[in-house]
Amino acid sequence: MSNGIYVQRTLAIIKPDAVQKAEEIEDIILRSGFTILQKRWIHLSPEQCSEFYSEHSSKIFFPSLVAFMSSDPIVVMELAKENAISSWRNLIGNTNSHKARNLEPESIRAKYGRDEQRNAVHGSDSEMSAEREIRFFFGRSIVEPIPTDQAAKDY
Ligand code: TYD
Ligand code: MG
Repeated sequence: MSNGIYVQRTLAIIKPDAVQKAEEIEDIILRSGFTILQKRWIHLSPEQCSEFYSEHSSKIFFPSLVAFMSSDPIVVMELAKENAISSWRNLIGNTNSHKARNLEPESIRAKYGRDEQRNAVHGSDSEMSAEREIRFFFGRSIVEPIPTDQAAKDY
């Protein structure tokens, strides 16, 4: 990929505690320069939440996290922007909404989150997790680059 901006993709979730503010949060997302490539409302089962958060399965907060995330519908979005992953993580702020209010008062978690669990939004933390999480909700990304061998065949 020579000459050109690398548009990265990330997964955002508006969690059950903030879905009532979904429109406001989507406004912030768009005003911050992200493109919403795909969006779905979904009510996850506890099993689906356990799979999504499997990296945390041994943590003490896991059962209550799963109960919370499956308690109500959520909004999942595939976002695109230059450096989307770190840009979205910066915009959402610290995991703990109380800390976010001290450290990043303009962040989404500072504004809409309540505590360390009900923190309004999710953001992928690496390219690997973005890939996995986008696939988890949407299957194949609509902007997945054409693999080189196939590109050669097509053009
Ligand atoms: P984590 O991946 O550490 O945070 P982040 O969402 O910022 O990547 O944790 C995943 C989620 O687990 C977090 O958003 C809320 C929940 N959680 C708790 O319920 N209690 C906790 O003590 C922590 C650290 C996280
Ligand atoms: Mg995380």
